[in-house]
Amino acid sequence: IYRRATPTTLPTFLLLGPSGSGKTALLTLAERAQAATTRTSTSPLAVEALLPDGLTPASSSYRSAGDPAFERARRFQLIDTPGHGKLRHYAISKLANPTNVRGIIFVVDAASVADETGLNEAAEYLHDVLLALQKRYTGAKTSKGPTEIPVLIAANKSDLFTALPPHLIKLSLEKAISNVRKSRATGLKESGAVLTADQGDLEEEREWLGEGGEGPFEFWQMEEVGMSVDVRGGNVVGTDGADVKTWFKWIADQL
Ligand code: GTP
Ligand code: MG
Repeated sequence: IYRRATPTTLPTFLLLGPSGSGKTALLTLAERAQAATTRTSTSPLAVEALLPDGLTPASSSYRSAGDPAFERARRFQLIDTPGHGKLRHYAISKLANPTNVRGIIFVVDAASVADETGLNEAAEYLHDVLLALQKRYTGAKTSKGPTEIPVLIAANKSDLFTALPPHLIKLSLEKAISNVRKSRATGLKESGAVLTADQGDLEEEREWLGEGGEGPFEFWQMEEVGMSVDVRGGNVVGTDGADVKTWFKWIADQL
């Protein structure tokens, strides 16, 4: 496969999510307007992509197509990461140093989150991603705070008849993340990681995703730490072709 060396100054979107959700398929579609056959990824992959015709980068809404600045603003970089549980250090290290990262695209398989195993795997990974971004935000030393990083949950494979609709995926993930949050907090206490009572409170606070308290986790809570979370459905492959308009629209809004 031909790969261009991509300049790192382009606005970048990170593709994260469980194994098999369709990240590499989406990357190949964005790169050459057609999804290629993929196999499980073992390393990250960066490609340069162009916003499809008909979509306007938010920063160029007052310009018209053909204007050089408009054309430049359509370019972005996509970085695919392996979703396998043992290979997530690639993704996590990108999150720790998100230079030029304009947004996170967390791809889930809309059919596999219909069952508990698939849902919990996605929720655990998403919990860790959101917590990493939250820590980055609350730990920032500058008075301005770090730039905000929006998150798109791309509910992929909507062509499958077992796929859940986006609003149900949102509710299911919020509920499952509430459980992950609770069990992680318990694990932290039992692991004896706590030194003194004071430090313990602090430690727990930093490891707690979203609002304090025992209430359920909901995605809007991430707005306080500079993250909007959007859930939008689509499909990369399927008998009627790809339907990725809502995701590219989201990308356009971040450019
Ligand atoms: P890892 O590399 O292991 O993290 O997985 P991945 O997220 O890169 O998954 P990949 O893109 O390799 O896709 C996994 C499988 O799902 C492939 O067989 C794709 O053809 C299939 N797939 C991807 N998108 C869709 C879709 O929208 N609908 C259907 N039905 N299948 C899809
Ligand atoms: Mg892959």
